[in-house]
Amino acid sequence: MPARGKLIVLEGLDKAGKSSQCKQLAAKLAAQGLKVNAISFPDRTTPIGRMIDAYLKGDDQQDDHAIHLLFSANRWEVAAKIRADIDAGINVVIDRYYYSGCVYSAAKNSDSLGLAWARKPDEGLPRPDAVIFLGISQEEAAKRGGWGGEKYETKAIQDRVRELFVQLQSVEPEKQDFVRIDAGQDLEEVAEDVWEAVQKVFKRVDLHGEALRVV
Ligand code: TYD
Ligand code: MG
Repeated sequence: MPARGKLIVLEGLDKAGKSSQCKQLAAKLAAQGLKVNAISFPDRTTPIGRMIDAYLKGDDQQDDHAIHLLFSANRWEVAAKIRADIDAGINVVIDRYYYSGCVYSAAKNSDSLGLAWARKPDEGLPRPDAVIFLGISQEEAAKRGGWGGEKYETKAIQDRVRELFVQLQSVEPEKQDFVRIDAGQDLEEVAEDVWEAVQKVFKRVDLHGEALRVV
């Protein structure tokens, strides 16, 4: 029986370089003759994704809890496909997942929307075999240019998101999922670190015949 696919997530703040690292990682896996499907959240192309897109662009208002549930629903829309891919031996590389979902919502500092509440709607989703966290300092992120005009692209939110990502990485079970990489390095160095981390995950999962877990 061929090995199951691995579920690898890349996470980090805006400007950490997630999208380009995801692309490079998917290309490297494909170059090894492995099957790979690269996806990203939010997926703005579905009906739910279009509502999220309008919210992020400021064309539409949403209650904080309601938009949180839409981001989660946007993942549930493809959860079965992710699981089917993994079962079929296709590796899945994801740009942002429920970790972003939790921290960006909790960054609004609403009393009724903390990290624990934010995690609930995602319980039951396929759990990544590893989350590669691209860490970047505030100074380095600032060098990479200004923010666009989207909802969370302000210094106040980004600073709070940074704190909450640290917090999320210290609680179970998320704690075990994270592999931290210094994304302040040159792109190539970051890509090498990502590749090294991913190879370790492949070895670990295959060696122990680890089944795909759930959030
Ligand atoms: P981003 O990855 O920046 O999308 P794009 O590459 O299309 O610009 O995501 C858009 C924003 O959405 C970003 O600020 C993080 C936020 N976000 C959430 O608030 N909750 C979520 O569940 C996800 C996946 C993203
Ligand atoms: Mg963005």
